[in-house]
Amino acid sequence: MAKRRFYTTTPIYYVNDVPHVGHTYTTLAADVLARYHRLLGEEVFFLTGTDEHGLKVSQEAKEQNLSPKEFTDRVAPRFSSTWDSLNINYDFFIRTTDRNHERIVQKVLTKIYKKGFIYEGVYEGPYCVGCEKFLTEDELQNGVCPLHPNLIPTHIKEKNYFFKLSHFQEKLSRLFSSREIILPRERRNEILGKLKEELKDLSISRAGVPWGISVPWDKEQTIYVWVDALLNYYSATQFVKGKKKFWPADLHLIGKDILWFHTVVWYAILLAAGFSPQKLPKKVFAHGFFTVEGQKMSKSLGNVIAPDDLVEQFGVDGTRYLLLSEFPFGADGDISLSRFRERYNADLANGVGNLAARVAKLCETSGFDFEDTPTSYFFSKPLKSSLSEYRIDEALSDIWLNTKAGIHTLDKTIDKKKPWTLSGKKLYKNLLGAASIVRHIAYQLQPFMPETAEKIQKQFAGPKIKASPPLFPRL
Ligand code: MSP
Repeated sequence: MAKRRFYTTTPIYYVNDVPHVGHTYTTLAADVLARYHRLLGEEVFFLTGTDEHGLKVSQEAKEQNLSPKEFTDRVAPRFSSTWDSLNINYDFFIRTTDRNHERIVQKVLTKIYKKGFIYEGVYEGPYCVGCEKFLTEDELQNGVCPLHPNLIPTHIKEKNYFFKLSHFQEKLSRLFSSREIILPRERRNEILGKLKEELKDLSISRAGVPWGISVPWDKEQTIYVWVDALLNYYSATQFVKGKKKFWPADLHLIGKDILWFHTVVWYAILLAAGFSPQKLPKKVFAHGFFTVEGQKMSKSLGNVIAPDDLVEQFGVDGTRYLLLSEFPFGADGDISLSRFRERYNADLANGVGNLAARVAKLCETSGFDFEDTPTSYFFSKPLKSSLSEYRIDEALSDIWLNTKAGIHTLDKTIDKKKPWTLSGKKLYKNLLGAASIVRHIAYQLQPFMPETAEKIQKQFAGPKIKASPPLFPRL
């Protein structure tokens, strides 16, 4: 029987930025789901990468006296190496300056052009370089983009090619209301609400931005960076060897800030290019946004948290745990380093770390052998059901709180049964039960905290189980 497949993606991040916890959050979530699906025996394609064209990137390159290509080559590895340092196991890292990607973007655009969904016009209005987005006068607040109040929007008047987005208004409404593509539900309602207002055509080329993919039928123009970027999800499946079968994506993971592009714009492009409803991406899940100690994370406030700093303080798995469990996936939430420290000590040092140490020590002192049957481990029902709805924080908390085999439950059972007062068969049975629950916990930790899971699995492989240094030293 053919294996089930799972194709998941993250946004491709603007290459000029330095990776921060926001980018890390999405990419970690994708890693957890990819690892989980691999453990279920599925064939997985996990795609991430960098968005490298557009005005923002070329301006930054100029400031550094580099050509855009020199600049992007220099900075793109900041993302891939951050993902490596967090043990994020992506299958392919796409860069939009890859010739293969560029070729496929041109091919798709030509198709849309030939189908009559692109026409020439004049664009006039404000443009926010920070968002790489055309704004309407209504979107401005006090003359500036609300998301980039320090940037004065550029006023643009130029010849552009326009995409007939308006043509797809009804189709998109029908699609998003009849199928549960957009998640969580509030986000779907938000898009359906917006689709009730008149949809305007979208300018999809730029005249004055040479750093981009050229429009195939008009070399004076480059393709709008968002159209180029969105198509990465398709292009990677076409040029990375053996990945064609993964299209359409099962899940696009994004932050709520880019939902409009990933639903209305992205699906309209695909419909215009002739993709049938069965060949459209299946789910788009928009998670919430972090604030740091109650404030928006921003360079100017100096409160941007670098993933490397977290890894230095909490370790790789500590960072993975703290970010994914801090607040419900999908909702907005606040993070603070002091709360991270508290939770590190409570859930990791005193929680899973202490439990593994405690059980290992008891097993070692008992002198018994504890044979393992690794094939008998599985994911709990609540964990599975949480992950099937992308409630990653809930899936993770089940490993701690599960009333049958959770970390806290086992801790309490040990306190109650006091194995140190037992001996002989009774002691053996009791410890074997505890050891197999720890093994089960390690099995379930694999997608979330792969290194910790492996350490526990090795320690508890049996037949002899021995104490070892703490997994999470107290801070
Ligand atoms: N290049 C575009 C995406 C193109 S995808 C075809 C882009 N890049 S970005 O570098 O700005 O990354 C945006 C994404 O980073 C968000 O959608 C979200 O996934 C993540 N986050 C950025 N800041 C964040 C927070 N403060 N909190 C949570 N996630 C955030 O937009």
